[in-house]
Parts: sequence; structure tokens; C-alpha cells
Amino acid sequence: MEGGRWWQDGIGYICYPASFKDSDGDGVGDLKGILAKLPYLEELGVTFLWLCPIFDSPMEDDGYDVRDFHRINPLFGTMEDLRLLLEEAHARGIRILLDLVMNHTSREHPWFKKALQDPMCEERSYYIFRKGRKDGDRLLPPNNWGSFFSPSAWERVPGTDEFYFHSFGRGMPDLDWSNEKVQDLMAGIASSYLDMGVDGFRMDATAHLAKDMSFADSPLPDEDGDGYVLDPSRFSNRPELMGYLQEFRRKALKGRDALLIGEVGGSIQPSEGERMARRGQGPLDLLFNFDTVWNNGNFGSIGKKDEEIRTDVMLLKHNFSRWYEACHETCDMPLYWCNHDHPRVLRQYGSREYRKESAKALLLTLLFLYGTPFLFQGEELGMDDLMDAPVGDFLHDAGTKEAVDSYRKEGYSEEEILSFFRRTGRTNARSPIPWDRGEWGGFSSHKPLFPMNHDHLLGVNVEDEEKDPDSVLNFYKEAIRIRKGPWGKIVREGRLEWVDWNHQDAFAYLHRGQRNLLVITNMRPYDVYFSFNFQIADILLHNYEGVLLSPERVMRLRPFESYLLAVR
Ligand code: NOJ
Repeated sequence: MEGGRWWQDGIGYICYPASFKDSDGDGVGDLKGILAKLPYLEELGVTFLWLCPIFDSPMEDDGYDVRDFHRINPLFGTMEDLRLLLEEAHARGIRILLDLVMNHTSREHPWFKKALQDPMCEERSYYIFRKGRKDGDRLLPPNNWGSFFSPSAWERVPGTDEFYFHSFGRGMPDLDWSNEKVQDLMAGIASSYLDMGVDGFRMDATAHLAKDMSFADSPLPDEDGDGYVLDPSRFSNRPELMGYLQEFRRKALKGRDALLIGEVGGSIQPSEGERMARRGQGPLDLLFNFDTVWNNGNFGSIGKKDEEIRTDVMLLKHNFSRWYEACHETCDMPLYWCNHDHPRVLRQYGSREYRKESAKALLLTLLFLYGTPFLFQGEELGMDDLMDAPVGDFLHDAGTKEAVDSYRKEGYSEEEILSFFRRTGRTNARSPIPWDRGEWGGFSSHKPLFPMNHDHLLGVNVEDEEKDPDSVLNFYKEAIRIRKGPWGKIVREGRLEWVDWNHQDAFAYLHRGQRNLLVITNMRPYDVYFSFNFQIADILLHNYEGVLLSPERVMRLRPFESYLLAVR
């Protein structure tokens, strides 16, 4: 396949293997399942896949806890299956990125097991161990840092006065990237997969590789009174990170052409991001921050009612715009609404009532911005969150269990907890792809590991949508076809201008180029008005019939009405 910065005109698809397609009837999707569905992906128009982790893992965090980087998780298949998938995908013009977990391993990784058994062994230095603090008869963790999945970021090593550090779950000890040996090992792992033909990596939790190695207490207030504070400044995007990543790139790629995507999280400024992804200079090619993901007050919204969650259209425009302004001249940028860690975008910014209209509108709005679009599996069907799932369905997720316990302790009702997880839980995005109306949606012959979304019985499934000319899926295909054609060049090379920036409900922008491309979207589930000063040369794509434009050039936009227009 041709080299160069191939992702610049690519269409990415985030594939969560456990829930994509099960080929062997155990309820868990697998590599052979992905292989079987390559024609579907090709027809959709995607040009590369990011596969969420497929390495051997005890699955405490669904694969983000790696036990062996050189073995494929038997649930997903074998190394041979991966080889075959690479071969077939490449033959169809689809590249494959693996999700590389670099910040931590599973506590079942042989390095960590050895580190626990023998405090003097070399592997001990791959991780972060510190002595606890004595408080009378009690032994407290070495500092007050909180973790993403549990109150303290430290877990005591049984029978000793030492603790190990984990930014995420207790079963996911962090690697010590200040140790060059760790850097070399990880670069070696990446290099071996590039040798095999993999096209790059989504690098998990990149933001957290460098820590404040003094491990001094965080001065932030302990707001929930549990004694710990989650202070990203202590372990996110710290200055040493740049050097670690530069070295990683040099040693892993050895001059090869591969895509490195860094997950840099939510606490990074565009100017810092720009340095990390600067073309030909930065250690990364694309950065995933989460600045455009939760712009509706949904994050941490326990205690709020569903009705209080409302898209902040101005904030959304502001966040897209500040990253665009800082980065577009010097960097490539990704575009995405969400991934396997978020609720479905339909529920975030769209509407169940206007399912088709809003799913189409959200795609159109995102797809023609500057950058490389990434679709998350199921978005192309207009999938919703798990509206009828009981709370037990969400407990599978490592991050959820401890949160539910603490919300119960804090006195939230079961109803409040349930509605919170139904609109925020990661399990929402992980429900299986429904291929048809069958019992398990044609995903498997067995009850799936992740709960089914029963909307497949209402026609939200591949088979029904393929037949329906007005479906979300067919709209996606058409939109992607246009994006990959000559208009894509104008999106890439034209200057993006916001149109009626101050409109609180509409998201509208223009690319000026040899021809002008205009996107107008009503982000609300009700009619809004939009003043229109352009001459329509062509309606390239539209999710409604007819144009409601008054002689005074005021446009009435129906709920989630969205236009892609060639204008003069
Ligand atoms: C980010 C991944 O996307 C998420 O699923 C995982 O739980 C954490 N990193 C920890 O690896």
C-alpha cells in the first residue's frame, strides 16, 4: 500500500473486537469475525481500523490489562488469525492499527509477578513501588493521589510495607517510564508488530506515561472526603513525556511509515498538543483529547435529571475551533464524537425521538470538518445507549463497580444511579453490533458478553438498514463517498470559517476553496431559524426533503436538519 501521510484522507473506524462479530459462538467477538465483515467495512468506505486491545489478558479492564504482549487473547483468536486479517484487510485497501497499552500491564503479567516475588529482581524496577506512610498503627499509602478507577492510586503488597502505583484499576500496575529498559521493551514490542505488517498504533493512556517522580502529596482539596484526590497535573502530559515519546518513535518505527495516535486525555492545551503532533517533528501523528466529547454537562452528572443534559453548542464550536486554530497549519488532526469509553453520540448530542435525523446530522457535521474522521462502531447504524439495561449490566466495567458502591454510600437512590449509568456508562458503547433481527442480533449464536441493545428489533441493525434507502447506514455510505471525492481536497486545503458563530443552536461552517462547501446543522430537537446569505449551487446531502427558505432568506431548520451545500 502507498506510503506518505496516508491517514490525511483516510476514514478511520474504531472497532471494539469483543462486540463486533463473533465467529465461534462463545459470545465474544473475534478476529475471524472481523475478517468475515471486511466486505461490510469496505462498502461503508472506511480505510483503516483501530482495533481495541487484542492481546492476552485476564480482562479485568476488557483487554486494557495486558498479560502477554506477544500472544493474542484466545477469546479473540491467534497470531495466525491476525496475520490473515492483515493480509485480507490490506488486499481490500484497509489498514490496521493495534491498541498498544503502554502505561501499565496486568498484575498477571510475568514481569509483575516476578517483581512481587523477588524485590531484588530487575523487573521490580519496571514498576513503581514505594513504602507506605505510618500513621500510628496504620499503614497509609505513600501519598494522597487518587486513581481513575479506585480511591487510592496505591495498592499494598500483601505482607510488606510497600505499595505499587496504579493510575487505573488495582489489577493494572503502572510501568515506570523513567526506566530506559521499560522504554526499550515497549519500543521492541511495537516494532515486532510493525514487522508483521501492522500499520500503526493507538497508544493507550499516552498522557500518563510520565509522572511526578517525587510523589509529593497533591495540594488539591479532598472534595469527597475519602482522603484522596485525582490530580491530573501529577501524572498527565508532564514535560518528560515528550522525550519518552520521541525515543519511542525513533526506536519503534526505525524510519518506517506508521501512524502513531496518542491518547492525551482531557487536560492538555492545544499549544502543547501542537508540539506533540507537529508534522515531521512531533513524536505523535494524531492526538485524541476529549475536549469535544462531554459538552453537555453529562460527565460526572450523578444527581442530575436526564432533562438537564443539554448540548452546549457554543462550547462545542469553541472547542473544535480552538484546536483547529492551534493545529491545522502544522498538524494533522483526528475528528470523532466518541469511542468505547463514552456513551453513544446519539444520546450525547442527538435524540432518540429523532434518531435517524440526528444520527445523520451528527455525522454530516463532523465528517466535513478539517481532519481525519474516526467513526465508532455502531454509529453508522444510529445506535443508542442501553435504555432498558439494569444496573447489573454496567457492573461488568472495571471503572463502574467502585463508583456504584461509593454513590450508594453517598446516598443516591437506585433510580438516580441507574439513569446516570444509562447515560454515561462505557458499557453503552460496548453493546454488540446488531447484524440482523435474530436472537442475539446475528452477532453470535450465544448470549453476548456485553448486553444487547434491543433496538435491533426495531430495525436498528445492518440487514434492515441495508435495505432501507433512507437508513442511517445508507446515509453514512453516501456521506463518506462524498468526503473521499474531490470535496475532500477542499476540506483538507480550504480555510475553515465559522458561519453565524454566535448562533446558540446551529453548528455551521464553510470551507473556501476552488468551490465553497457549507455545512449547516440544527443541533436541537425543535425548529430553529438561520439567516442565510449564500446562493445554493448544489445540495450535496440533506437529511430532510425540501428547503424551507423564506424570500427574506431566513431558513427554517427542522429538528436536527442538516445540509451539505455547494454555495456561491
Ligand atoms: C483508556 C482506554 O480507552 C480505556 O478503555 C482504559 O480503561 C484506560 N485507558 C486504561 O487502560
